[in-house]
Amino acid sequence: MVVEVCVGSSCHLKGSYEVIELFKARIAKDKLEDKIDLKGTFCLGKCGIAGVSIRVDEQIITGVTPGNFDEVFDTYILSKVA
Ligand code: FES
Repeated sequence: MVVEVCVGSSCHLKGSYEVIELFKARIAKDKLEDKIDLKGTFCLGKCGIAGVSIRVDEQIITGVTPGNFDEVFDTYILSKVA
């Protein structure tokens, strides 16, 4: 599975770096290194929405924050790779 975190300027300001660090930590904790390909991507065109935008395979998910990260991970990623 390809997980891309938007590192466009708007998402960067809204915390992309922190979200990427959360992804790295969670992927390591759950031992999913060989199942998840984590990448950065340019603007996904959803800058107006609060939080960081990510793309999981071809689905764009908006509003990712450190506060809802685990919920997003469980719902959109863990359920598909487990
Ligand atoms: S900068 Fe992330 S959606 Fe535009």
